[in-house]
Amino acid sequence: MLAGSIPLPHGGRLVNRFVASDKKTDGMFTVSVSDDLRNDIENIADGIFSPLEGFVGEQDFQSIVKAGRLKNGLAWTVPIVLDVDEQTAVKMKDAGQVALATGSDRFAILHVEETYAFDKLACAKAIYQTDDTKHPGVDKMIRMKDRLVGGKIDVVKRIEQSPLRKYRMTPAETRAEISRKGWKSVVGFQTRNVPHVAHEMLQKAALNLYDGLFVNPLIGKKKQGDFKDEVILAAYVALIDEYYPKDRTMFVTLHTEMRYAGPKEAIHHAIMRKNFGCSNFIVGRDHAGVSNYYHPFAAHEIFKNYMDLGIEPVFFPAFYYCKKCLSYANERNCPHGQEFREELSGTKMRNMVSSGEIPAEHLMRPEVAKTIISFNEPFVQ
Ligand code: ADX
Repeated sequence: MLAGSIPLPHGGRLVNRFVASDKKTDGMFTVSVSDDLRNDIENIADGIFSPLEGFVGEQDFQSIVKAGRLKNGLAWTVPIVLDVDEQTAVKMKDAGQVALATGSDRFAILHVEETYAFDKLACAKAIYQTDDTKHPGVDKMIRMKDRLVGGKIDVVKRIEQSPLRKYRMTPAETRAEISRKGWKSVVGFQTRNVPHVAHEMLQKAALNLYDGLFVNPLIGKKKQGDFKDEVILAAYVALIDEYYPKDRTMFVTLHTEMRYAGPKEAIHHAIMRKNFGCSNFIVGRDHAGVSNYYHPFAAHEIFKNYMDLGIEPVFFPAFYYCKKCLSYANERNCPHGQEFREELSGTKMRNMVSSGEIPAEHLMRPEVAKTIISFNEPFVQ
């Protein structure tokens, strides 16, 4: 095994923004947020976004957009923000402390520090490297309300347990589990897809080098045509059950949105896994990409600007199945031509499943394929 060590949380300390539930939100000015944002608010409170203690203020926001860092210089590439309309922003500023709710469920208090305007298109361009509104992240940003609200949050009530949250863990829990297992190095794997065999081979190649594997699918808002959360979850449970060494694998879900920000999101993904206790993080081909907005290895390049990240990336070239090698291979270890290669991607798997084709066993494990086709509608509509 490589000598390694479990990193401290990003910024040095695991954030905890939960307070006793008797803290009163009654009578407070209340702002409704989406279920997706509630997930991120809980992520802040659990320290998954350490060192953030709330929604970023203007200086941090501008610094993230311009430099990919917080104003204190710490790496941070995707701003976590609350957007409201002008009128609500004024009311929130006057109130000072406001309750955040989903429906009638008041679950958090926001200590309003500032409200500010932002240039949506310029921000979109900086984060997503395009202002094309066909990009799902850009589209979301230009639809945002006009003002952002910065301030720390205190969560008074957790999101209720549900089958989708069965494998959710907090960083405090994952770190305790890693320590219990005695792992000195843990490699994190991000995914938004059902597993194909190339995914599995990446993870197992990394498992040759590190003590533990932290499989961490992203459960949360995704674009139309992506696999649904329940399908991803069931497919991974089926895969791990049959094909992974249990004593060297942790399976934990991460409940946040996909942002499709390619390289910038790769840094964001790595920071969250650092907070969970991973020493290393897998970055393969077109990490967090969408359509052809990013070079397939742009997410490798960006790490050169983040030598201080505190979690080491593990880069992989594109893995394909080589019909001559009779195994998974890549350009670094396989001399055979294009005609022998079967490329694998989430898009290819989605296209196969949606046209009713069952992927062959060397592309997708039969247990995984069977699980996927047991769903009437496996895709986000
Ligand atoms: S992502 O949006 O979460 O990045 P996906 O779930 O498909 O999409 O990928 C998970 C991880 O596996 C990413 O690091 C991605 O770069 C990598 N990956 C997926 N397919 C391949 C492949 N064929 N070869 C190399 N890396 C891959």
